[in-house]
Amino acid sequence: MSKRIGILTGGGDCPGLNAVIRALVRRAAIDDVAVLGIREGWRGLVEGNIEPLTRASVTGILPRGGTILGTSRFNPLEHTASLDRIRQHWIDYDLQALIVVGGEGSLSAARDLWRDHQYPIIGVPKTIDNDLTGTDFTFGFDTAVHIVMEAIDRLHSTAESHHRVMVVEVMGRHTGWIAAYGGIAGGADVVLVPEHPFRLSRVCEMIQQRESQGRAFSIIVVAEDAHPHPEEDFISAEAHAEIYRHNHLGGIANILALEIERCTRIETRVTKLGYVQRGGSPTAFDRVLATRFGIKAYEMVAAREWGRMAALHGNHMSSVPLEEAVGTLKRLDPEIYRIAEIFFG
Ligand code: F6P
Repeated sequence: MSKRIGILTGGGDCPGLNAVIRALVRRAAIDDVAVLGIREGWRGLVEGNIEPLTRASVTGILPRGGTILGTSRFNPLEHTASLDRIRQHWIDYDLQALIVVGGEGSLSAARDLWRDHQYPIIGVPKTIDNDLTGTDFTFGFDTAVHIVMEAIDRLHSTAESHHRVMVVEVMGRHTGWIAAYGGIAGGADVVLVPEHPFRLSRVCEMIQQRESQGRAFSIIVVAEDAHPHPEEDFISAEAHAEIYRHNHLGGIANILALEIERCTRIETRVTKLGYVQRGGSPTAFDRVLATRFGIKAYEMVAAREWGRMAALHGNHMSSVPLEEAVGTLKRLDPEIYRIAEIFFG
C-alpha cells in the first residue's frame, strides 16, 4: 500500500470538497497511511506548498463550504519548468500517489500526467455544473440546485405581488443541469438551457398566455450559456461579444429581460445568482456523496487503479478511465428537460 498520498483540489470550488478531504484522511489513518495536503491546486505541487493533514486538521470541516486546501485554475502543463518542479517535489515529499479532486481542467492535467509521465494519479470529479462525463452526479450540484430552488421560492412572492416577470440567471457553464433541476424544483414557468436554443417569440407567448389566464407574473430560469436559436437575431453582435468576452459566461439575463419587457410590456427584473450557488454548507446528499468519493479514492489508491476517476453509477461507486471522463461534456439529460417543459407556461 502507498504510504504517502497527496491530495489537491483544483478549479472552481464547490460544496463538499472538505468532506472528500476529511473522508480520505480518516480512512487513511486506519491503515496508518499519511496524507499530504497540496495547497492552491496544481500550483501547490509546482511550488512545493504542501503540508501534512492530520485528524486534527480535518476536524469540524464536514459542514464547511469551499476547500481548506485552497484552489486555483493553474495549469501545470503550460510550462515545461512546472513539470521539472513537480518531479522534484514528488521526490522531496516522497509521494506514492496523488488524488486530484477537480473538474474538466484539473482532471485533464491529471490524465496527461498519468498518460504521458506515468504519475500514479486518481481523479475525483467535482463541479456544481454536473457536466462531467463518466459519473451520474458530482457533489456540489445538489447544493447549487437547492440554492436555486430557494431563490425561486422567494422570487415567487415578490413577482406575484408586483405582477412582474423575474429572469433568474444560473450557472452551469455549457450545460443546463442546474437550470433544469433548479427550475423543476422551484416551479419555474420557463427554463432556458444551452442544449435547446430558445426563441424569444415563444418565451413571450408563454408569458402573455399566463397573463391572459390571470397569472400576471412569471419566473424564467436561464442558464448562463443559453443562447437564442440561430434564426433569432434579438441579441446584437456587440451584445453577444460582450456576454462572451474573455470566455467568461454570464449576462444573458439582462439582455433577455429587456427584450421580454419590450415584447410583453410586463415589467421585468433580473436576479443573477452567481457565486452564491457555489458557496456555503453542502446539503446532506452532497456530504454523503463527497464522503463516498473520498473513501472510494482511497480504495482505488490501495488497488493501484492509476489513471482512473472515481464515479457514481446509479447508486454504486465505481471508476472510469480519466481518458473517458474528460474531453466531452455531459449534456443535460433530454428526459429531464422534457419534464421541465411540461410545466412551461
Ligand atoms: O464550473 C463551475 C463554475 O461555477 C461555472 O458554473 C461558472 O461558469 C464558472 O465556474 C465560473 O468560474 P470562475 O470561478 O473562474 O469565475
